[in-house]
Amino acid sequence: MSPMPVPQELPGVQDAFGRPLRSLRLSVTDRCNLRCKYCMPEDEYAWLPRETLLTFEEMNSLTGLFTELGVDKVRLTGGEPLLRKDLGTLIRLLLQNSRIQDLALTTNGILLAEQAQILYEAGLHRITVSLDTLQPERFRALTKRDMHRQVLEGIEAVGRSGFKTLKLDTVAIRGFNEDELADLIEYGKRVRAEVRFIEYMDVGGATEWSMDKVLSRAAILETLGRRYGAIEPVIEESSAPAQRFLLPDGTTFGIIPSTTTPFCASCDRSRLTADGMWYLCLYAKDGIDLRHVLRNGTSPQEIKGLIRSVWQGRKDRGAEERKALERIGVREERLIEIDRLRRDPHLEMHARGG
Ligand code: GTP
Ligand code: 5AD
Ligand code: SF4
Repeated sequence: MSPMPVPQELPGVQDAFGRPLRSLRLSVTDRCNLRCKYCMPEDEYAWLPRETLLTFEEMNSLTGLFTELGVDKVRLTGGEPLLRKDLGTLIRLLLQNSRIQDLALTTNGILLAEQAQILYEAGLHRITVSLDTLQPERFRALTKRDMHRQVLEGIEAVGRSGFKTLKLDTVAIRGFNEDELADLIEYGKRVRAEVRFIEYMDVGGATEWSMDKVLSRAAILETLGRRYGAIEPVIEESSAPAQRFLLPDGTTFGIIPSTTTPFCASCDRSRLTADGMWYLCLYAKDGIDLRHVLRNGTSPQEIKGLIRSVWQGRKDRGAEERKALERIGVREERLIEIDRLRRDPHLEMHARGG
């Protein structure tokens, strides 16, 4: 008689719409050294209490459980992640886990010149730097800080440190940087970076958002087409939000059209805030408190069971729901009221990672 097959635990887990859990954005701090208008336009912010911040060991333990459920892409975000001291230690810790195939970082670049080499040596795979303008004056108006030079120096340091690829993320805003799209692509060519234009999103924290400031994918393509001629889409299979395009000279660039063309249907990402709240969507108003279960002695198996069952019930499609509001003419209403944002910093984009 042949032996009974042993039931095998499937590595992956799927949500209510069949979307796998693959990508985790790990916010390591809610602090930031810039005040970008699209993210932190207010004068004052409430910060996460220090004692609630996860230690590197706690982040690593939770990330380990996520990887056992299918996560193989991790992105370190903030606030500004390089403000968290000794990030190289976290990177080394995470990379002991061979399930992590891709470990990336999103930064505003201010502290990159001094840290790029350390990050490379710690084993970090990829870096994305936010760069919205090439004009120092505009940068100051956007971020309330006079630090454009540091960002450019940070970008230059990435190539010198040994990283093979670099991405530059530009939030495209009508009335702010629509005249710089081609300049940014030209700059990207010089520093060997792929530029991605992101549609301005009406997420929590974007309290100055309005639809007329959104520079849509169509408008971006039209502007660049006038300058460069025929632009071809790059045909590829990907769950990443960026759609890539090819210029006649072979340069590629990306557009992340989250506002006009949400990618919720293929969204495999979730977010862990620096204090261990787990959010299933960029637009989600409630999260799951994983710090609490981690610190009250719940076993790793039980926490994994919790993560699995929460993901299996996931029905979030925040960007699509925002888009649906356009049809009934109420998209201009804020995602989250300012008073509520003040009471709960988790609702801010800078707390849950851009
Ligand atoms: P790669 O792994 O390098 O392809 O990264 P990515 O394409 O996932 O891009 P990245 O993680 O750098 O995110 C780029 C931008 O996409 C963010 O800054 C956001 O503006 C937007 N974005 C990221 N995550 C989400 C999300 O969960 N929902 C929506 N609607 N937009 C997102
Ligand atoms: N719209 C689009 N992207 C945003 N980010 C933050 N706020 C917004 C917003 N309202 C993203 C940007 C920035 C990253 C850290 O977060 O890509 O580069
Ligand atoms: Fe700007 Fe990022 Fe800081 Fe937000 S978290 S203010 S987008 S640099």
